[in-house]
Amino acid sequence: MPFLSVNPNVLLSPVADGYIAYHTTANRLHELNPTAALLVELCDGSRDADAVLTIASPLLPPNSEAAVRGWIDQAVASGVLVEGNEAIVDGEVRELPADQLSELACQLRSEGKVQAAYLCQDRATQLLPDNNAYWRELGELAHIVGKRPEAREAYEHYMQFCPDDAEVRHLLTSLRDDEAPARVPDECIKQLYERFSAFYDSNMCDELGYSGPEHLNSVVGEALGERRGLSVLDLGCGTGLAGLTLKDRASRLIGIDLSAEMISRAEERGVYDHLQVAEITEFLRSVTETFDLIIACDALIYFGDLSQVIAPAVKRLNAGGVIGFSVEAASKPPWSLTDSGRYVHHADHVNEVAQAHGLEATYREEFLRMEYGKEVTALYVTMTSGDPSDS
Ligand SMILES: C[S@@+](CC[C@H](N)C(=O)[O-])C[C@H]1O[C@@H](n2cnc3c(N)ncnc32)[C@H](O)[C@@H]1O
Repeated sequence: MPFLSVNPNVLLSPVADGYIAYHTTANRLHELNPTAALLVELCDGSRDADAVLTIASPLLPPNSEAAVRGWIDQAVASGVLVEGNEAIVDGEVRELPADQLSELACQLRSEGKVQAAYLCQDRATQLLPDNNAYWRELGELAHIVGKRPEAREAYEHYMQFCPDDAEVRHLLTSLRDDEAPARVPDECIKQLYERFSAFYDSNMCDELGYSGPEHLNSVVGEALGERRGLSVLDLGCGTGLAGLTLKDRASRLIGIDLSAEMISRAEERGVYDHLQVAEITEFLRSVTETFDLIIACDALIYFGDLSQVIAPAVKRLNAGGVIGFSVEAASKPPWSLTDSGRYVHHADHVNEVAQAHGLEATYREEFLRMEYGKEVTALYVTMTSGDPSDS
């Protein structure tokens, strides 16, 4: 009987209840239960089906021989297992080279097949461990498929090649369970949005269904009623998606952002009276102007304790003014840094911060956008400084 081995084009990865096997050349993903996973482990090129059965039988339920033989036949037919020297051609193991595996990973990822993408990238990285970009991509894919230790290991490996990468350094803070910084380091934000700015609008709006600006506009509208002709400050304005929804209420609209590339995109939109490259807390501390409405749409996700922003913002708010912002919703108070590199906030924290600054908070929990096929929920918050009729 021929010896059995795993097809070299089949990549295996343990999961909670067995293995997943991705057949790279056939583009097929197989889920293997624990019994199948054991059989695959035993098919290492040194055993035929009888030898596999001899070892496996005592570990399996009685009378499962026929089922095991059937499974092996099926695995051979589907190409997960190969017989004899089928895997060897001209003395070489037939396997996709690293560059093709990495390209395949990229393609699979874009199709949402992230488990298979992870397997391909993992193998590509094993084949070409000196390629730093492979390690970074592997870290990202490991994070997406929920393999936290593997994500950390891949990023740590990558940092040996690229110690100045501020984004990965920040991601490792969370993956290592180190103490969270007060806010995401400025260098990390700049690096992230320098890259992201070119496709921010299409990625967020067309691919991820980003709804932050619409929902924020809606809660801000409830707080403002019919008020128009307002001086409005947009913190972390990005390309101007939120500014666009608020333009009608504004007699003067200012946008600030740490990323020069995002500010140039906002300039192209032509809705702001003034745009400035600036860090939110520094700007709020140095600006002398005051505002009727201060918004931060999907920007305070880069801050831990919200007091850092609310305390200086309150000082720049006119009587009867409104602060409106969104944060990603946390299940536990008060807030925490997640493996995404962003912070999540609980409604208790929002209420506490509002109270501490003499503001009244209301919030609504709604869809924000998709992330790796899952819905992200946000708290859309308004904080009001008192009755507008008092102003
Ligand atoms: C997810 S984008 C949101 C952009 C825009 N508000 C929107 O709704 O599309 C977050 C923006 O916040 C900016 N940002 C993050 N931290 C910042 C900080 N500390 N100071 C200024 N801008 C910051 C980023 O540069 C980025 O443009």
